[in-house]
Amino acid sequence: MSERIVVIEGDGIGREVVPAAVSVLEAVGDFEFVEAEAGDAVEAETGEALPAETYETVADADATLFGAAGQTAADVILPLREAVGSFVNIRPARAYPGVDAVRPETDLVFLRENTEGVYSGHEDRLSADLSTLTRVVTTSASERLAEFACEYVTDRGESSFHVAHKANVMRETDGRFRDAVVDVADSKGVVAEEVLMDAFATRVCLNPEQFDVVVCPNLAGDVLSDLAAGLVGGLGLLPSANVGPDNALFEPVHGTAPDIAGEGVANPSAAILSAAMLLDHLGYDEAAADVNDAVESVLADGPRTADLGGDAGTAEVTEAILDRLE
Ligand code: NAI
Ligand code: MG
Repeated sequence: MSERIVVIEGDGIGREVVPAAVSVLEAVGDFEFVEAEAGDAVEAETGEALPAETYETVADADATLFGAAGQTAADVILPLREAVGSFVNIRPARAYPGVDAVRPETDLVFLRENTEGVYSGHEDRLSADLSTLTRVVTTSASERLAEFACEYVTDRGESSFHVAHKANVMRETDGRFRDAVVDVADSKGVVAEEVLMDAFATRVCLNPEQFDVVVCPNLAGDVLSDLAAGLVGGLGLLPSANVGPDNALFEPVHGTAPDIAGEGVANPSAAILSAAMLLDHLGYDEAAADVNDAVESVLADGPRTADLGGDAGTAEVTEAILDRLE
């Protein structure tokens, strides 16, 4: 039986890059696609950015491909991550030959804790002058992330990863995170090399080659992976995955790009690379590798979209990728 993939285009260039990614999935596999709605447009129509029907469809699927939502992004993506039970956000940041990157030698994967930390929503306004935020760190979520990281590096034939933290200052919360990650790694024969997250920010800019897989708490993973995005030359290239125990959601890192939406010029690479991550997640390793190779080859030889200095549109780049897949 073919897997059920929910497709949510969302708003802006999501409506342009997601169909491109779906055409690639259709070219390499036999899937049942189910369309669902989320974002600003559906909110304007129905009052709800994430209709209950979409949430349930996503929760019941094998995987979801999501484009982007506009102002409602947080109202959409946080519950959708929850719908797939996602505990890890995988964010590769890799420089491709032919693309003008600040650091062409960058090839990193961030494994970001996706459920807690400072993003768990416990904020309070205590007075006219004072607001507080409660940072939540559990051993269980930290261990689950570490177990995933160990499997992830082992699958790649590697035996270590870096763990970025600030346990020298946040002794209790990041101390718990660090201890849980290091203990799990030890028990699996994997080396968790510690790096303070501020030092990491400098070191990764100066010499990204010294890092490979980087395990991070939630906020640090968000910020440091965006920093790495800057090193590799732009948002149009960065895919991501939100993975849970038996469901997952894949999305480009970029948003709705209102400045170019509707013009047919958006770079479809990030969405197509997200589809490749989806294929890999569902066990279609070969198809995933083929899609990655096709994108890489088009990035190297063109045609290219305007964000990469070219003058091709979304459709032309997508056609070139599909041609490489034949
Ligand atoms: P953005 O990623 O939409 O755009 C930033 C810049 O990168 C723009 O100049 C845009 O044209 C360019 N860009 C992004 N993706 C591109 C692509 N595939 N091809 C060519 N150029 C591309 O981020 P911004 O402007 O901060 O946010 C715009 C809207 O998107 C906001 O409403 C924000 O809330 C939403 N957003 C949604 C996200 C999500 O749904 N996961 C993530 C980030 C932002
Ligand atoms: Mg971010």
